[in-house]
Amino acid sequence: MASDLTRGLSRNAAGYGDRDFALYLRRSFARSMGYSKPMLDRPVVGIVDTASGYNNCHRTVPELIRAVERGVLAAGGLPLAFPTISLCEPALFPTSMHYRNLAALETEAMLFAQPMDAAVLAGGCDKTVPAQLMAAASADLPVVGLVTGPMLATPFEGERLAACTDCRRYWAAYRAGRVSAERIAEIEGRLATTAGTCGVMGTASTMACVAEILGFLPSGTASIPAVHAERLVAAEAAGTLAVRLIDAPIRPSQLITPHSVENALTVLLALGGSTNALIHLAAIAGRRGVPVDLHRLNALSDATPVLVDLKPTGDGYMEDFHAAGGLPAVLYELRDLLHLSAVDITGTTLEQRLATPPPFVDRRYIRARDKPVSPVGGLVALLGTLAPRGAILKRSAATPALFEREARAVVFDGLEDLARRIDDPALDVVPEDFLVLKNAGPRSAAGMPEAGYLPIPQKLARAGVQDMVRISDCRMSGTAFGTIILHATPEAAAGGPLALVETGDRIRLSVAERRLDLLVDEAILARRRTLWRAPPVPARGWDRLVAEQVLQADEGCDLGFLTAAAH
Ligand code: FES
Repeated sequence: MASDLTRGLSRNAAGYGDRDFALYLRRSFARSMGYSKPMLDRPVVGIVDTASGYNNCHRTVPELIRAVERGVLAAGGLPLAFPTISLCEPALFPTSMHYRNLAALETEAMLFAQPMDAAVLAGGCDKTVPAQLMAAASADLPVVGLVTGPMLATPFEGERLAACTDCRRYWAAYRAGRVSAERIAEIEGRLATTAGTCGVMGTASTMACVAEILGFLPSGTASIPAVHAERLVAAEAAGTLAVRLIDAPIRPSQLITPHSVENALTVLLALGGSTNALIHLAAIAGRRGVPVDLHRLNALSDATPVLVDLKPTGDGYMEDFHAAGGLPAVLYELRDLLHLSAVDITGTTLEQRLATPPPFVDRRYIRARDKPVSPVGGLVALLGTLAPRGAILKRSAATPALFEREARAVVFDGLEDLARRIDDPALDVVPEDFLVLKNAGPRSAAGMPEAGYLPIPQKLARAGVQDMVRISDCRMSGTAFGTIILHATPEAAAGGPLALVETGDRIRLSVAERRLDLLVDEAILARRRTLWRAPPVPARGWDRLVAEQVLQADEGCDLGFLTAAAH
């Protein structure tokens, strides 16, 4: 029996009422797996295994785990991998977002329940990394993040393609009649040709960079392509580092601080990163009681230039970003805007990491401060009578000519209504209208899908209209683009002002003033409010728990009983 009962397999004895017996039983069962007694006396590193036949983005997880195991064994630990839920973005109904909190809940429970002294979190697709960081924040166990890494772009007839900005670009062209059915079918097989997460600065890569700036990933590892040998070297090093953390722990509670969260916002803005990252960051920070303030976001956005020129807003792919210097090169440019005392999982401060300039930076993809892609940040929060607790616009992916205007609302009551009417030739819509989608927020049955990228009505698309103002309480893929206002909070299903908007109402947007206002008399709104009915709560299961507990976008859409406030 191990002498230290707080370590390794001796931690968290099962509740048989006799601790010695519980550990005796555990060890004898562990022996059945062929481990020697000295091996079972080692400290334990749990490895979260998110491989799944449903998850293309996690195709390399099995070999990553073998590499982590190598690192753990070489450093004197016992690696024990265990499965958790795996969330592949396009594979889940109604949307992967609906299950992020389930993954966080399950991962936290297993980090807590099973005996382990530290853990490596292997994940990658959009919701997986946020769920793992939320779990780690609550379990407060030393963890090392290990992302699967982005896919490589595919050379194709003189251009390059990668999921999923190019998916959207080609699909929009197909809808507009500029690409044939044969061509779109051919391109389907060229968009995602290697293992790994989407190949642009979408949500997965944005969250990998957020995880790195928060300190969970060792420096420079966020963007290593999934299929590079360097990715396996990072996995081995993650295993070694996890063993080191057992004697010198750095816990999530030390990594998630007001300063590190503000650093993450600054990085998000400089990347021109995904709007989804705001929700996920609020959820991760919320687990440690650190708020994400939208007024502060706007102040940071005014002071932070976009430095990264990648799709969906620019030209490059994640492999270009990595070869250009990756996140360390971006951080070096931003160093005067960052809180340099923040530490990472190796115990190194940002100041130490940024003491010397990166050896090489490709300025095509990572700009210098004096030659930014944009002098201001990629995201802004809008507040006003239509979104009293905020809505988000990715201005770096939007059309500035649409930023200051008042227009008529054309309203869709939900996803089914949208699908039924958007391409109806009889739809009363002109390019100047604002398309409004409601009942697609976190509490709705739709589960806050990435439907905020409302398609341009087909008759307008065919007439050449490429962008319109679109407003909703749902999300947008990090790989999408357009003048799209998301996360209107409170959502319609919670009785927010969005629930009261009707076709023909006037809405005023001013990005300069950070305002989004519904120009309808309060007396009319009060009358509509008396007629509004909350959607029914599902009868059972996960859907019911979500409907009863899910918080709004400004609070990260976490479940209320999982936040720090619930402790
Ligand atoms: Fe997994 Fe895009 S679908 S990262």
